Amino acid sequence: MDLEPAKRRVGEEAALLVEEGMTLGLGTGSTARWFIEAVGARVASGLHVAAVATSLASASMAARQGIPLLELDERGVDLAVDGADVIDADLRLLKGLGGAMVRERIVAAAARRFVVIADETKLRPHLGGPLSVEVLGFGWHHTLALLDQTGASFSLRVDTAGEPQRSDNGNLIADGEYPPPIADPEGLASRLDAIPGVVGHGLFLGMADLVLVGGADGSLRRLEPARGGPAPLS
Ligand code: A5P
Repeated sequence: MDLEPAKRRVGEEAALLVEEGMTLGLGTGSTARWFIEAVGARVASGLHVAAVATSLASASMAARQGIPLLELDERGVDLAVDGADVIDADLRLLKGLGGAMVRERIVAAAARRFVVIADETKLRPHLGGPLSVEVLGFGWHHTLALLDQTGASFSLRVDTAGEPQRSDNGNLIADGEYPPPIADPEGLASRLDAIPGVVGHGLFLGMADLVLVGGADGSLRRLEPARGGPAPLS
């Protein structure tokens, strides 16, 4: 199944939410990329915005698109748009396969509106599957042993040469696989947050204000927490 048209559709739809003068949060990944491109096209047509990027990759992409970049400051951002790996019926997210979840969470939390864009394969009845955790290099063996006590077996992410992969923050990434359903995502998030060597993780709970879901058939759904279910995009 070719999901690029669905990703592109939601990226372009999210770009229509951008208003003159806004400060944006730019997500990371193959779906957020379409948002960055679509914003770039609007900037080329005269729109004035500035953006905070959640990764070096997205910063480079934005720079190529002529989108002015900013450091995140006390003003936060007006609108952050990012992808997700899994989205459950309560619009809770698993993120981080791209390894950028720490910056992604900082930017999403600093956003007055956080919009998630995804193709329909990301929608699931329950959370479960891969979860990425950024860990400090110091004591990482011990940190992974503590992570293993939370219900998944964790291993360090390595690059093609077999070397530990570093996040943009210079930390290590550990990947685990939680069989669906994760019975208590909030409880799991608390347990992960309590592990001292954990810098951040990919459980994003109660953060999404809107989820745009693109179907391979060209359809577009708009999911909002208040409604708790799909509704046609007007
Ligand atoms: C990056 O760290 C991730 O959180 C991505 O947002 C997530 O993995 C979705 O990526 P894709 O849009 O490439 O599926």
